Parts: sequence; structure tokens; C-alpha cells
Amino acid sequence: MPMVMTPEQNDWFSRMRGEWLSVMRPFDGYGPSALFQPLPALPPELLADCKLLPNRYAILPLLPKGGRVAEVGTQEGRFADHISAECRPEELHLFDIDFSPLTRRTDTELARTATLHEGDSANMLSRLPDDYFDWMYIDGDHSYAGVKRDVEVARTKVKPGGTLVFNDFVMWSPVECIDYGVPHAVCELALNHNFRFTHFALHQLMYCDVALRRPER
Ligand SMILES: C[S@@+](CC[C@H](N)C(=O)[O-])C[C@H]1O[C@@H](n2cnc3c(N)ncnc32)[C@H](O)[C@@H]1O
Repeated sequence: MPMVMTPEQNDWFSRMRGEWLSVMRPFDGYGPSALFQPLPALPPELLADCKLLPNRYAILPLLPKGGRVAEVGTQEGRFADHISAECRPEELHLFDIDFSPLTRRTDTELARTATLHEGDSANMLSRLPDDYFDWMYIDGDHSYAGVKRDVEVARTKVKPGGTLVFNDFVMWSPVECIDYGVPHAVCELALNHNFRFTHFALHQLMYCDVALRRPER
């Protein structure tokens, strides 16, 4: 049973589901629908080297140690702690529109040891040189427009041969009931700029991660 509801929640959800189906009309059979835009088809060569992993933590040991690393969207810094401990970057750059969740924590050194870039991530990233990072973790604004802006900057800030990892490769967030633009923005990156998928990491609620490699020049 993926969802565990009280009888009251179940009653309400049954009524709401009928209304959702009649108003939103998500299905036109199981093909493309007006509500959900289908993902563009990817040619097999962009997926040929992609390995399946159990979770996002399993990506970290496979990434280079040391070097320059960025996390776009840090919040409290819970995943950045893992990046720091596992990959020991020489430079760790964190980007967030608001670092107060991180700086409120007393159990992490990140606010002192990492470089904090506070503000809109695409804007802050654009101030750094091209080909700067060995790899980047992208987990900021999840709307299509927001991810697309991050992608368009990040794709030139990561070194040729470097890796972009994207969190929340899911079209619909079941927890928040909102659509996410990560899969579309990522597939467009692969198709338009020949970034190849290297890893697909599962998540317990299917908020999966994907990693893609920038082509060598
Ligand atoms: C899901 S949280 C990041 C969680 C973190 N990566 C982790 O796994 O522990 C998303 C973060 O992105 C930040 N964010 C959202 N839109 C942003 C933007 N346009 N520029 C910078 N940060 C943004 C939010 O403030 C939030 O802290």
C-alpha cells in the first residue's frame, strides 16, 4: 500500500479524485495528454552507459575526490554534509536564495568551510568562470523555468567531461501536488548539448536523481 490514509482522508480523496478527473482531464488514454507534456524521446546512445543505483548517496563515491564542487539549492545543508564528508572537495560552493536554514544549524561546519553564494542561483552562478566545477549537484527551483535557467548556466560552468547531477527527476511531486520541470529540462540538456546519462539513482518515493556527463571538447 503506497499511501496510508485515515478513513476520513480516504473519503475526501475519493470525492476529490472524481472532481480532479473531470476538471483537469489528465488522461487521453495513456498517450500524450493536454495536462502532462510527454518527455522528448532520447536516442539510445545517450543512455547506453547509464547505471542504475539504489539511492543518491551511492552516486557520491563514484564522483571525483577533491576538486571544485557546487550544490545549487542547499536548504539546511543535509546533502551538502554528505558531499563534504564523502568527496572532500578542495572548494565547495553552495548556492541558495536564503541561507538562514543552514546558518541556524549548530551541528555543521559548512557555513564556515564552504563558499556561500546567496541569491538567485542562475544569476549567482553566471558570475563564475566557465569550465570551473568538476561536478555540480542541482536541487534548487524545481519549476521548468527555474531548472531550465540553472541548466543553461550550469552546462558551461561544469568542466568538459565533468558531471551534472540533478535531484528530483520526477514530473509530479506526490507530496506537494505540484509539477516539477526537472525531467523535461534534463532531457533537453541531453538532446541539445549531447550530455550523456551516467547514473539513475532511485528514491524511496521516486524523487530520483540522474547524473549526466558534459562531452569533452
Ligand atoms: C529541496 S531544497 C535543497 C535540499 C538540499 N539539496 C538537500 O538535499 O539537502 C531546495 C532549495 O533551493 C532553494 N532555491 C529555490 N529556488 C532558488 C533559486 N532561484 N535560487 C537559489 N536557490 C533557490 C530553496 O531556498 C531551497 O533551500
